[in-house]
Amino acid sequence: MSEGKVYKQGWSPEDVSWSAFDASKAEPWLIDAIKSAALVEYNAPDYVIYLKRVFPPDMYAVLEQWGREETQHGAVLGRWAEMADPNFKLDEAIARFRKGYRPEHFAGGEQASVRGSRRGEMIARCVVESGTSSYYTALKDATNEPVLKEIAGRVAADEFRHYKLFFETLHAQNEPDLPFWRKLLIAVGRITESDDDEISYAYYCATVRPEEEAAKPYVRAECSKGVFAGTARIYRRHHIQKMTQMVAKAVGADPHGRLAKLAGALVWRMIRARAGRSVETAAA
Ligand SMILES: [Fe+2]
Ligand SMILES: [Fe+2]
Repeated sequence: MSEGKVYKQGWSPEDVSWSAFDASKAEPWLIDAIKSAALVEYNAPDYVIYLKRVFPPDMYAVLEQWGREETQHGAVLGRWAEMADPNFKLDEAIARFRKGYRPEHFAGGEQASVRGSRRGEMIARCVVESGTSSYYTALKDATNEPVLKEIAGRVAADEFRHYKLFFETLHAQNEPDLPFWRKLLIAVGRITESDDDEISYAYYCATVRPEEEAAKPYVRAECSKGVFAGTARIYRRHHIQKMTQMVAKAVGADPHGRLAKLAGALVWRMIRARAGRSVETAAA
């Protein structure tokens, strides 16, 4: 199970024990996964701009702090990736990623949430933070590289706090509660969005050098398979169950009920299937 040190909020990149880096424990597939994660985390400033259109000014300071923490996740993961692969340049990869990927709702100037309400927006954010907190916990458990283990522990603790922040913000809204089916649709919609170009294109920018682009053009299905292959190597069954419990709680379902268990089983099978690995050979 997940155990070890609990990290407090408010850490900085200089708090990480960088000198403990052990290159022999940074496997190529892991480096690819971390580069991709760094790029996605680094996109947070765009989410802050979008969320500031959806929420009133009294939320701005909280949203900006959240965005700074997500950007810091990108910076420390990117720094680790640059140590593990000297050919990788975070700034260059970010520039390519941002040039080639921009969600439609970031570009618009409208005030409304693409989720239909502020409550809907917070459910979607809870889904994302459920995913990231479980991912970095699984990463911390999966890697033996000391610096990455520390970074993953620090980031996972931040992501759990982000979930709590958005869960509390969800229930603080002076909007009528949404029907259960609507909350479920928002959550499922946000989960399936994870299938979109954001993560796949980040993987492409992370793993294909600029000079290789002409010979290796972006093919979403191939990159998506690469993403899921890494994900399947990192996650264990209990990490998925924790994630689906958190999502269930966000939509108002019983975290320990049948729906959460069923969802956990489905997500587990989906990840392994998308990675092209047999569900039967999966380590539990
Ligand atoms: Fe993050
Ligand atoms: Fe987060």
